[in-house]
Amino acid sequence: MIVKSLELENFRNYKKLKIDFDKGVNILYGDNAQGKTNILEALYISATTKSHKGSKDKDVINFESDEGHIKTILDKQGMESRIDMHLRRSKAKGIAIDKVRIKKISELLGLMNVVFFSPEDMGIIKNAPAERRKFADMELCQLDPIYLYNLNNYNKIINQRNDILKEINFKPDYRGMLDIYDSQLLSYGKKVIERRRQFTEELNNIIYSIHKDLSGGREEIKIQYVPQTSEEDMEEKLKKNTERDIRMKMTSVGPHRDDFAFISNGIDVRTYGSQGQQRTAALSLKLSEIELVKKTAKENPILLLDDVLSELDSNRQTQLLNSIGDIQTIITCTGLDDFVNNRFEIDKIYKVTNGTVSSEN
Ligand SMILES: Nc1ncnc2c1ncn2[C@@H]1O[C@H](COP(=O)(O)OP(=O)(O)OP(=O)(O)O)[C@@H](O)[C@H]1O
Ligand SMILES: [Mg+2]
Repeated sequence: MIVKSLELENFRNYKKLKIDFDKGVNILYGDNAQGKTNILEALYISATTKSHKGSKDKDVINFESDEGHIKTILDKQGMESRIDMHLRRSKAKGIAIDKVRIKKISELLGLMNVVFFSPEDMGIIKNAPAERRKFADMELCQLDPIYLYNLNNYNKIINQRNDILKEINFKPDYRGMLDIYDSQLLSYGKKVIERRRQFTEELNNIIYSIHKDLSGGREEIKIQYVPQTSEEDMEEKLKKNTERDIRMKMTSVGPHRDDFAFISNGIDVRTYGSQGQQRTAALSLKLSEIELVKKTAKENPILLLDDVLSELDSNRQTQLLNSIGDIQTIITCTGLDDFVNNRFEIDKIYKVTNGTVSSEN
């Protein structure tokens, strides 16, 4: 799959933009704060409906406008599709595929698969568990509409249950409602846990050899899913913690507290790994993500690399660039030196200057 073109209207610092992409490696370069990342963000929103930064629609619309547009043309084995997004300040975004309005996000997910790699991802191993959950969720939601459905429902029930927990002290008869929420929480929660367990296995089948290569044959890595509760124990734990939940006014049991551990040569990389080891593991994880999408969606994802080359030493730069192969890639950077040093082939070069993009080849 490739993205052929992107059109923006009143998106971030772009009043109007049309950019065509090559099917190979595309570079967007320019000084800081010119709008390079904004282009990748627009592509990411096209694929997932969400900003990779977690920004709200009203934040990505140009400061001076009330609404914005993103139009993306894809090419899947010669078949074109078009995704239109209409962003509004105070309403949910409107989405159309091939000019037909869709009602559910699940109709869009999977149409355009992207793997986004930003400098922040280098911290995915050492940061808080929420980041690793976000990684798993973003990937699973793109690849598996059933997971998306279960996770959305799970999150909805958690929020409702927490609202009830906050009220119980004033309205004791709310207590009876907890049972209803608990049974739904269990039902969706167990499905989320089960899919995350399976996801970890799928990733393990891929990451081992990637990481062995990246570490020069020195490290054998394994990802461990660390669920806060297993499917079997969830019901009992939930019941056991009811009084505590009421006191704390929040739900303490369930997959919203899960984590993933990275074990290399028997040690936990997060706790005991050097910074270099943590970064190598992060890179292995992102490269595994590409392979996983290839395998699951039976289609190459579009690779979006936001300023990551400058974060890597020349060895890892080469390994990353080598692994691109025939995947369409859009790379942002401030200068072209890293590519020249690596003698890396570029198909298309764009210079980004203050919300405008000009072709340099
Ligand atoms: N809603 C908005 N409306 C208008 N301009 C915006 C909006 N949101 C962000 N910007 C502007 O976009 C610019 C940042 O763009 P972007 O993050 O794409 O820069 P960049 O080229 O990736 O820079 P860097 O090299 O520092 O990463 C900033 O100047 C910011 O003020
Ligand atoms: Mg940027």
